[in-house]
Amino acid sequence: MQSLSDKRILLGITGGIAAYKSAELTRRLRDHGAEVRVVMTPAATEFIAPLTLQALSGNPVHTDLLDHEAEAAMGHIELARWADAVVVAPATANFIARLSNGLADDLLSTLCLATAAPLLIAPAMNRQMWQNPATQENIARLQARGVTLLGPASGAQACGEMGPGRLLEPEELAQAIISAGRTNQLAGVSVLVSAGPTREFIDPVRYLSNRSSGRMGYAVARAAEEAGAAVTLVSGPVSLAAPARVKVVEVVSAGQMHDEVLAAAPATDIFVSSAAVADYRTGNAAGQKMKKKDADLLLRLEKTPDILAEVAALDRPPFTVGFAAETENLHDNAKKKLKSKNLDMIAANRVGNGLGFDREENALEVFWTGGSESLATAPKEKLARQLVEIIIARYREKSLEQQHRTRVKDVQD
Ligand code: PMT
Repeated sequence: MQSLSDKRILLGITGGIAAYKSAELTRRLRDHGAEVRVVMTPAATEFIAPLTLQALSGNPVHTDLLDHEAEAAMGHIELARWADAVVVAPATANFIARLSNGLADDLLSTLCLATAAPLLIAPAMNRQMWQNPATQENIARLQARGVTLLGPASGAQACGEMGPGRLLEPEELAQAIISAGRTNQLAGVSVLVSAGPTREFIDPVRYLSNRSSGRMGYAVARAAEEAGAAVTLVSGPVSLAAPARVKVVEVVSAGQMHDEVLAAAPATDIFVSSAAVADYRTGNAAGQKMKKKDADLLLRLEKTPDILAEVAALDRPPFTVGFAAETENLHDNAKKKLKSKNLDMIAANRVGNGLGFDREENALEVFWTGGSESLATAPKEKLARQLVEIIIARYREKSLEQQHRTRVKDVQD
């Protein structure tokens, strides 16, 4: 899976010679999985043609605040809301000055004011302009407001001088954008995720399984890793690439998944059970391929262990998050599972009729004791990041409650 999968990046280009590098940056961001929309200032269009950026981003390029046609397709407020991150590369001294003063006199500066998404700027200018106290003050003001600075690099400049003010190279920018999306909210926390289907063999060539692709669980593992956790992913058979920096343990059957999850659980802080584990299996699979004989075949099945319930029942259980895949009574069934399995949280999704399993998108209803949150239909990558945010908040709250109880007990003892 790519590092910027399903991230929506609004790339702002301002008028400097380094604008040519934005074409390559657009390509790199898309190679890393991002969806890119480009906004150019009028001066930027003097340096590079909007058509180039349109072809490379795969989306129309926005240039004008008062373009009625573009506003009708996607208005500037919609564009500001659409973005998961706004990146201005290159950002000229003039644009930085306008941004630090809160001006909104063209489309890009307006979007920067109107967005709630993180703002990243990559300055590019002559070294004297960069070192000028006016620019440095503007930069300091922007950083104090939470704007992330990417670069600049130092070296030979288009004007023939040497020094700081060069735009970072496209891949350096892409990597800096990836890093900026990472947080340390789960630093020092170990997260265990189960994902994908299991296969319960009937004979050496046939098995019972389901249509889980593993996408949801892999996305959760990646989101937890992005949040700084040490992540182990116990995965049934899927055809997905291992997420970067995640330890993947491959299993096939519910029994194997049970053994691997239970072995890892005692050293785990948070367990997220998104695997579609078979509820039943044949007690003992036939040693040889079964022959076709009678008109009917009766399969005798036995229950598989409930991995999630076993983890939640450990003496010192991790913060335990289940999933509920439901074709009916989503809320009621999910809440029953939350209670009966003694979970900290459950993420319920509708399945069947083309929903949930083996789809790019999903929607979740998240429940915990005393609260709930609805996550609207979105790509699973995005949904996973939102789910991990909720998990972090609840996990912290539970940890604080536990610390408080321990302190009270210590005082009583
Ligand atoms: O993999 P995708 O194609 O992306 O699809 C995602 C998904 C639909 C599989 C996922 O979002 C999901 O709903 N996963 C849980 C599927 C499931 O088995 O739900 P359930 O309601 O039957 O089980 C409830 C919970 O118990 C789940 O957390 C499950 O992992 C767990 N369980 C179930 C049976 C069992 N023997 N052991 C378990 O741990």
